[in-house]
Amino acid sequence: MNRENYIYILACLFVLVFFSCKHGEGEYHSLHDKIQAESISHQDSTLSSEAFFNHYKTMEITEGGHTFLIPERKSQITSYACTECHTEPLDELKGKDLKKAHWDITLAHANSNTMNCATCHNGSDMNNLNTLTGIKVDFNSSYKLCAQCHSSQFEDWKGGAHGKRIGGWAPPRASLTCVNCHNPHSPSIESRWPSRFNTEQIEGAYEGLEH
Ligand code: HEC
Ligand code: HEC
Ligand code: HEC
Ligand code: HEC
Repeated sequence: MNRENYIYILACLFVLVFFSCKHGEGEYHSLHDKIQAESISHQDSTLSSEAFFNHYKTMEITEGGHTFLIPERKSQITSYACTECHTEPLDELKGKDLKKAHWDITLAHANSNTMNCATCHNGSDMNNLNTLTGIKVDFNSSYKLCAQCHSSQFEDWKGGAHGKRIGGWAPPRASLTCVNCHNPHSPSIESRWPSRFNTEQIEGAYEGLEH
């Protein structure tokens, strides 16, 4: 073997030893391999958003290919079950009582040609809501009622673009439902000014500035 060949082989060995893979020591062929290998170790870990919204009692829904959790409502409605009083038809109930039972509810939603209590509440089945075509809807799924007329907000909400996601980005997904933010009887959100410091109420606020 001549001298040049010898140096050549030594150089090859050097390259092999220094640039070969050392998986055992946590090194990878490429960044992609590293990401893959490290994500496998998280696959059956307990990364979850659940701890951040367990103060809500939630229920799972599936709408248009999106499956997520929304807060349960019935336990939050103090006058539920409605049938504690609504045991007879509305006409008879109204005849009896001089005082208005639901004096605290004033409808400020759509105008009265479009909407009244019966648009959403069925007098002969008060424990459930009802659609425009008379299909019964559970109080926990009231978003289905809103979706009839507000289809674009409903589409956005399903995908997570309207309304607030609660918890974190880790699964499971949980979102607030329409009635968490909008009062169904008066749903519009008022615009308001930011609060500001009122100098006129503070005595001497301008003292020293008048020279
Ligand atoms: C404490 C008794 C009581 C409970 C509980 C109750 N209601 Fe009523 N409700 C009445 C009475 C009495 C009337 C009839 C007098 C009136 O219009 O206020 C009435 C009337 C109504 C009307 C007709 C109002 C109108 O102006 O035509 C609707 C709609 C209604 N209730 C919905 C509900 C729903 C939905 C629930 C449950 C979430 C409920 N009520 C729970 C006593 C009750
Ligand atoms: C656009 C649909 C819609 C209309 C119209 C409507 N409601 Fe409701 N109502 C709802 C929904 C949805 C809930 C449940 C809200 C929740 O989950 O907090 C509700 C809840 C209630 C409750 C129980 C909660 C509470 O505030 O006491 C009563 C009582 C009630 N409605 C009465 C009425 C009466 C009376 C009218 C007519 C003046 C009326 N509603 C009109 C959708 C409607
Ligand atoms: C029968 C059809 C109908 C149903 C059901 C209905 N809405 Fe409406 N809603 C309307 C109409 C009509 C208006 C008035 C639109 C306007 O003034 O431009 C309105 C107005 C609103 C507004 C105010 C819009 C604004 O620009 O300020 C909100 C928010 C809203 N609805 C939310 C809801 C929610 C939440 C539900 C379910 C509990 C619901 N609506 C159910 C028809 C409906
Ligand atoms: C996390 C709270 C939240 C939830 C959940 C939510 N909304 Fe809203 N929504 C808002 C706010 C805030 C606005 C006002 C936006 C503005 O004024 O620019 C709004 C605006 C609206 C409007 C007025 C038109 C518009 O887009 O500005 C309608 C209609 C409406 N929401 C319907 C719905 C319906 C239907 C659902 C359920 C499918 C829903 N919202 C769920 C907070 C919410």
